[in-house]
Amino acid sequence: MSTLAERLAAAAARRQAAAPAPPPAPEPAPAPAAPAPTPPSDAAPDSTPDAPADHADHGAAPETARPETGLDATIARSIGHVGTPDPVEKAAPVQVKKVPDAGRAEVPGRHKPLPAKPEVTSGARRALVAQQQDRIEEIKANVHGQLLQQLGPQLYDAKMDQSELENRVRVVLQEVLSAQERPLSSADRSRVTQEISDDILGYGPIETYLRDPEVSEVMVNGPHSVFVERNGRIEAADATFVDEPHLRRIIDKIVSRLGRRVDESSPMVDARLPDGSRVNAVIPPLSIDGSALTIRKFAADPFTVDDLIAFGSFTPRTADFLEACVRGRLNVIVSGSTGAGKTTTLNVLSSFIPRDERIVTIEDAAELQLKQDHVVRLESRPPNIEGKGAVDIRDLVKNSLRMRPDRIIVGEVRDASALDMLQAMSTGHDGSIATVHSNGPRDTLSRIETMVLMAGMDLPMRAIREQMASAIDLIVHQTRFKDGSRHVTHITEVERMEGDVITLQDVFVYDHGAGFDATGRSLGRLRSTGLRPKFLDKMAYHNVTVDPMVFALDRS
Ligand SMILES: Nc1ncnc2c1ncn2[C@@H]1O[C@H](COP(=O)(O)OP(=O)(O)O)[C@@H](O)[C@H]1O
Ligand SMILES: [Mg+2]
Repeated sequence: MSTLAERLAAAAARRQAAAPAPPPAPEPAPAPAAPAPTPPSDAAPDSTPDAPADHADHGAAPETARPETGLDATIARSIGHVGTPDPVEKAAPVQVKKVPDAGRAEVPGRHKPLPAKPEVTSGARRALVAQQQDRIEEIKANVHGQLLQQLGPQLYDAKMDQSELENRVRVVLQEVLSAQERPLSSADRSRVTQEISDDILGYGPIETYLRDPEVSEVMVNGPHSVFVERNGRIEAADATFVDEPHLRRIIDKIVSRLGRRVDESSPMVDARLPDGSRVNAVIPPLSIDGSALTIRKFAADPFTVDDLIAFGSFTPRTADFLEACVRGRLNVIVSGSTGAGKTTTLNVLSSFIPRDERIVTIEDAAELQLKQDHVVRLESRPPNIEGKGAVDIRDLVKNSLRMRPDRIIVGEVRDASALDMLQAMSTGHDGSIATVHSNGPRDTLSRIETMVLMAGMDLPMRAIREQMASAIDLIVHQTRFKDGSRHVTHITEVERMEGDVITLQDVFVYDHGAGFDATGRSLGRLRSTGLRPKFLDKMAYHNVTVDPMVFALDRS
């Protein structure tokens, strides 16, 4: 990593090379330029309208993290981060931040390699943009360095309150910016302010997406490739890290808060942001094109059954039926591939559990948000750095049996805990619900079978299947369609063994017959098969009855 001085010199050289054009670089932004070099006190009011307004949000956002250990070791690198990325790429995030709607409107159709302003074609203008960009990068490097110099020890003061730290960073930033010899336009000034404070106080270039409520997932595939999921669709994001060390510093910042670390000896790590968002990071050499960072944002306001009906994931009729199944204490497996909406559906099904029952939830990363009062939430724990102290889902399922649960909810069964789960389901804890990763109802059963075998109990296959057939009543299978929508595609009864095979009986199936509309949206719907499930007796035993019309064949 080159020193600050070297980078500044390089930036200056680039600027000269790029600009045979008029020497006193005019600002392309027609925004009202600040008056000539002003003393800090004069400049402060001028700058307030932009920056602090931005930060009012920022300060309130729960994602912002105190830069703890990550910064200490990386002051030098931090300065280095402010290198010179592709000018056009860097220019865009500000538009997103400052004029959210315009920025958003621009993003969907765009792919990263396309220039933000395709009409800029002439060499002279391109040189101008490059020159301007270099200047901003130079100022950023300068400001960043001074900021770290002035605030250094305070940045690591664990006792300092986060908002106090943010205030100090902002004050110093304003001072340093105002003391610049050549004034910045107010647009550039607020951009520099935002980018630097995102870097020091938040999660750098992806901060803006973490704060955007429309974005549900942020996926970084190396420093220069960032994608987000917005409204169910994946799109390229207008964000780029300066280089790999910059990305690593952000990853370090996230994981170090949880007392974890990511390095050569543990190159994969799961973590969580303070707001509950789930984070996974994999660093090179396991991840080939730079570190990969995946953040599944925590839904502050989780979907309700009405939302899922509005999205077309459930029909009102199936929602009523599923509610009856949960109240009637059926054991339910929600299955589907990653991102199909299993956890969301599990949360909705759990919301049907009567309030007077004691619920124990068991998850790898606490995602469920139950509204009931009587809930015990348990979360598994990975091993520590010496490989000790792990508590897995299986341990928690076993333990939960001693906690007098009425219902056990398991976030995702992915290992031998399947055996304990089946045993719990068939020994008085009926009404339990779990999710399993699978490609269809039949596949759900074979996955569970395989997971039970992982317990290494040497159980005969037939015994395992019998256990499954008697424990599981219903499979709710969910699929993510190409258009980003999620649908329950099968509601399937698990019947008894016939020979060596468990019989499955679909009660509702998604009918694809209607095809797709011009935008790729599915026109199909979930239809009943006309068959009445046999578990109605079990439900009746729990005083829950279902209107037989629910199962009437619908031909509409
Ligand atoms: N029925 C749905 N319709 C639209 N989006 C959904 C639906 N269910 C879930 N989502 C969204 O899909 C993403 C993945 O959902 P999640 O329930 O975590 O999936 P899984 O547990 O199967 O991996 C989340 O961003 C969530 O907001
Ligand atoms: Mg899930």
